[in-house]
Amino acid sequence: MAPALYPPTIVPPARPLPLLSFLRRFIRNPLRAIPQSVYEEPVVTYGKKRPLLAWVTDPALIETILVKNSEQFPKTSLDRRVLTPIVGNGLLTTEGDSWRWQRKLASPPFRHTELLSYVPAMAEAAVERVRQWRDHGRAPFATDIEAAMTDVTFNVVARTILAGVRTAEGDAIKRTSRAYLDPISWEVAASMLRYPETYWHPGKARMRRSATELRSIMRALVAERRRDTSPGNDLIARMLAAKDPETGEPMPEEMIADNLATFLFAGHETTAKALTWTLYILSRAPDWQDRLRSEISSVIGDRPITSDAIGKLPTVSRVLKEAMRLYPPAPVMTRITTGEVSLGGKTLPKSTLIVLPIFIIHRHRALWDDPNRFDPDRFLPEREARYPRTQFMPFGYGQRICIGSSFAMLEATAILATLLQNARFEWDGKHVPEPVSRVTLRPKGGMPLIVRPL
Ligand code: HEM
Repeated sequence: MAPALYPPTIVPPARPLPLLSFLRRFIRNPLRAIPQSVYEEPVVTYGKKRPLLAWVTDPALIETILVKNSEQFPKTSLDRRVLTPIVGNGLLTTEGDSWRWQRKLASPPFRHTELLSYVPAMAEAAVERVRQWRDHGRAPFATDIEAAMTDVTFNVVARTILAGVRTAEGDAIKRTSRAYLDPISWEVAASMLRYPETYWHPGKARMRRSATELRSIMRALVAERRRDTSPGNDLIARMLAAKDPETGEPMPEEMIADNLATFLFAGHETTAKALTWTLYILSRAPDWQDRLRSEISSVIGDRPITSDAIGKLPTVSRVLKEAMRLYPPAPVMTRITTGEVSLGGKTLPKSTLIVLPIFIIHRHRALWDDPNRFDPDRFLPEREARYPRTQFMPFGYGQRICIGSSFAMLEATAILATLLQNARFEWDGKHVPEPVSRVTLRPKGGMPLIVRPL
């Protein structure tokens, strides 16, 4: 079967741009400001006298940053400044002992046996969406797949690890998170240039309003769960019952609200984007779509997917991985140097911003054959085993690796299998969405696809 080809939708500048042009492109889409050399070399610095930042794409150097010498490369104040207004000092943004305590506390719901128990809820969320599509009858219709996948993955989180978020709150949370992220590149650019947090930019007031609204929804949710007499066994219940290992004090209310926001946000936006881009690719590679449908049919027929069936769908898994290679839902990670370091022959002074551009690592000319080509067979077990762990890293790597990676893979498989059992996805032949980095990888102009219920 001939793998489908995809034209790259981002044409990188041939050379690093002067600061003003760099910023202009960065605001529109940070991925557009990254020069061609980053797709070809192991480390590229930006900045004339003193590097403002370094893009690192070499797997061995990434391993040095995230594992071997990770204490020299902590998370950045940029991450914190940009994300703290919505996710506070929860697991994603905190460091040190507080991070260790929160990570340990949050881990049990992500253990293998717990994860398998969520599969029916994951499949049910997809079935509900299919039922809504069937209200259109059997005729094909166009719909925004990005919005649909955001609803489905939000429902999954709100029914598994964080129970009890109602539809009205859910809608407000999705709306405010999106409104917060729309102007985020301004804030990232201001932070990169070390402008103070009070620095005004377009969209700043909207970001503040959205963050305030989001925080007050979180506080209300925590207060409600505290009043609940049958607290359940989800992540909120665990946090409400938790005691600090040193002081024996309960987890502060604010920290619980921070983690509620963290898991609601990190737990649905990314998986929604993984499914959105996968369906886009499958709509343009109908042969692969048929191949997946026949694998799913041979394993489960038209019955609902079960946890047993998930491991028996290797082609679905390969397609999801290849889609996340081409369109990583979290396209960029950052770290900072704590002192002068030498990396790939370049000397980087203290406080240099280290950018790990996952989007580019996954399309690097020196790492992948024909990197823009969609070819799920790159993830056949014998080939996948040869890649260093930091060459394909949609979930990051090292001690801060995504806590929800297995949850996300299970969820994406259950949802994709259920959708493909029940509908065909077709491309309109026109819309080639540009992947835009807004913390997650958004399709510019949304993802209108034609759905043909089966
Ligand atoms: C396809 C889906 C997902 C992708 C691509 C993804 C990607 C990532 C990445 C790249 C990081 C590392 C950030 C860094 O080191 O700077 C991360 C961290 C994190 N992710 Fe995910 N994620 C996904 C799904 C999820 C889900 C489903 C959850 C929760 C239910 C989740 C919760 C988190 C949290 C809490 C962290 C911070 C972990 C820590 O610092 O200890 N993610 N994710």
